[in-house]
Amino acid sequence: MEVAPNAYPKKMNSTYEDEEEKKHFQRIVSAFKYYKPHSLQRVKKTERYLLSLPPHHQKLLTKYREHLVDVKRCIENNDEIIKLIIKDVTHIFENVSPTSSSTDSVRPVSMTLSHRPIMADQEKVQATIKQLVRDWSTEGTEERRTCYQPIIDEIISKFPLEHCTPADIRILVPGAGLGRLAYEIARRGYTCQGNEFSLFMLFASHFVLNKCRSINSFKVHPWVHQYMNNLQPEHQTQEVYFPDVNPSDLPENAQFSMAAGDFLEVYTEENHWDCVATCFFIDCANNVVQFIETIYKILKPGGIWINLGPLLYHFSDMPMEESIEPSYSEVRDVIRGLGFQIEKEETHVKTRYAQNVNSMLQYEYNSVYFVCQKPKRPTTSTEQPMSQSNGSETNGLQEQEN
Ligand SMILES: C[S@@+](CC[C@H](N)C(=O)[O-])C[C@H]1O[C@@H](n2cnc3c(N)ncnc32)[C@H](O)[C@@H]1O
Repeated sequence: MEVAPNAYPKKMNSTYEDEEEKKHFQRIVSAFKYYKPHSLQRVKKTERYLLSLPPHHQKLLTKYREHLVDVKRCIENNDEIIKLIIKDVTHIFENVSPTSSSTDSVRPVSMTLSHRPIMADQEKVQATIKQLVRDWSTEGTEERRTCYQPIIDEIISKFPLEHCTPADIRILVPGAGLGRLAYEIARRGYTCQGNEFSLFMLFASHFVLNKCRSINSFKVHPWVHQYMNNLQPEHQTQEVYFPDVNPSDLPENAQFSMAAGDFLEVYTEENHWDCVATCFFIDCANNVVQFIETIYKILKPGGIWINLGPLLYHFSDMPMEESIEPSYSEVRDVIRGLGFQIEKEETHVKTRYAQNVNSMLQYEYNSVYFVCQKPKRPTTSTEQPMSQSNGSETNGLQEQEN
């Protein structure tokens, strides 16, 4: 089945916004195109320094020099995948005309982008490659078991396949990344929509979901940009094959879509979803309360919100960005204050995110997992939801290390 992202929500008469969207689209295409020269520049800098070292040092580093040649080969291989990812991206949105977002009109990158945005965008290109491992490779199995499986299990227990018509159950996955969680939910028969606003992710998920037709038919070198903390040179150049499943192997009648755009702008219809599943998402908000409030509104009465992840507030300390960073116990007060009933809660859930398991540096999150329900009947003014946590259930919360 074709999984076409819907286009960004458009406002009438907003030529300025259309122009901005076009520029944004072109900037992301440019970032992908700039991947190879940017990445090769980095290796060449090291090679130049290596060649300036005393000859006997160079001799001792012969293997390392050969390794750098191998790193360049891996970058070339990654670039082949990137070319496939951005091929035809002008057509991926259902209602955006190709002429309005042509990749051909992208001017040479070095002309169009200033230094700082290039750096930030290059990190996102690299993060997109690593996300392929998390979502669509055998190497990502363990991360998906700890991050996605608890959510899938909860959905199945709340909406048992033998007691409902799964296609009638509408499940939304905001911040869907490369779409694996949403895909897994749809594969089980539920109607599932992934939502994502990053074009890096949308281009790559479109490639996986619509262009990859056989198992492990492509490979990337996800850790090739990690120059530090390698035990062996092969750990930097390691190849990872994807996709570990055939993404087109969905039941014929599967209801699966990806919607492009800002979660807060796209989802305004109240009482629509039976379940909202968020994984490593709620901390992507400037104002986490706005995310939770939106989730509450769009859920049907009796609807379920399942969440797993840390509170690595993405906008915290970002230049030109506003952010609040309430602790989990404060977020919990907000959840209850808005009217949710917390049904399940677990802290210290060990989770990882796009981790290189061979690296000498490992990040692990003590994530929180919770399930809450929007009350079946609206709360009246005399039974306002509690805005105070009783505190006891959050005892023992530990600060997470990012
Ligand atoms: C940390 S990633 C998690 C991706 C995926 N859920 C996973 O666990 O691998 C968060 C994702 O949410 C997306 N995102 C952040 N804010 C968003 C918003 N307001 N609307 C839609 N997507 C958003 C980001 O682009 C990113 O892909």
